[in-house]
Order: sequence, then C-alpha cells, then structure tokens
Amino acid sequence: MSDDRDDHELRVSKIRNGTVIDHVPGGQALNVLAILGIDGSEGEELSVGMNVPSDRLARKDILKVEDRELSQDEVDVLSLIAPDATINIVREYDVVEKHRVDRPDVVEGVLSCPNDGCISAGDEPVDSRFEVLDDGVRCEYCDTIVREGIASLIDT
Ligand code: CTP
Ligand code: ZN
Repeated sequence: MSDDRDDHELRVSKIRNGTVIDHVPGGQALNVLAILGIDGSEGEELSVGMNVPSDRLARKDILKVEDRELSQDEVDVLSLIAPDATINIVREYDVVEKHRVDRPDVVEGVLSCPNDGCISAGDEPVDSRFEVLDDGVRCEYCDTIVREGIASLIDT
C-alpha cells in the first residue's frame, strides 16, 4: 500500500503541458477560474481539486490547465485572492518553472469599483485603478476600500 499522505497529489492526474496553480486557499478555485476567464465552454482541458489536504495550508485548492500560460495581469489579480499560490509551468510532464505570486502595488482595469457613483464605474471611458493594501484594495478615484469579497469585483 502506498503512503496515504502522497495520495492526495494523485487525486488530480499529472498534466503534459500547461500550468498548475497550487496552494490556492481552500474554496477559491472557482474565483481563480473567473479571473482566468475559464468556464469550460471553449473545450479547455482543466482539472480542479478543491479542499484537498495540504502540508502548508489546512486545505488547498489546485488547478491544472492544459496548454495555457498566464499573463502578468492574471497573476496580479490571482495574488489578491491567493497570496501563497505557486504557479508551475509544465512542459512534457516536467515542472520547468515555478513562481510564487507577487502582490502588485496597483491593479488596473481588472476590478470594478462597487461604488455606483464612482467615475470608473459609469459610462466614462475610465479604467478602474485600485491600490493594493495589506488587507484589501482602495479605489484610486473614489477611495472606496474593499477588504472582503474582492473576487466579486473581478470583471468577467
Ligand atoms: N504536476 C502536474 N503535472 C506534472 C508535473 C507536476 O500536475 N506533469 C503538479 C504536481 O502534482 C504538484 C505541482 O504540479 O501539485 C508541482 O509539482 P512539483 O514541483 O513536482 O511538486 P512539489 O515539489 O510538491 O511542489 P511544491 O514544493 O511547490 O509544493
Ligand atoms: Zn471607485
């Protein structure tokens, strides 16, 4: 019998080429998919493990996307909901690159301000701009601070 502790890694099979997003906080995988704009409707090959046991986090989510690499913008937003995520680039079954995500100082054009009166939320051609704080984000136009539920502000 194999060691039980190794088995959780096998719950989602290895991929040949693509990106493994590991160490995502338990329960956030669907928000990560929203950030990446992946809903499966375009035939994307995707495996998701949710709330699997992890050494580092109590429970983690893991996403494996075939034939897809992430843009810097996507990684920046990902860092807001998964600050400890590891991005693994896989080629021919080997992990060829491994990155931790960095929290950017500013995210532009990817979150929408929840304040209806904000100039970035109206019809004006103004891109949203949020300053990244230790515990949330602040709209640079109207100073609204969002600490909880940042994922729900993601423009999809
Ligand atoms: N992985 C995969 N397909 C591959 C290679 C790796 O799905 N062809 C997955 C592994 O299952 C693991 C992640 O990519 O979840 C990172 O792989 P690896 O660096 O080999 O694992 P660890 O050393 O455990 O990673 P870390 O130290 O970042 O936890
Ligand atoms: Zn605003």
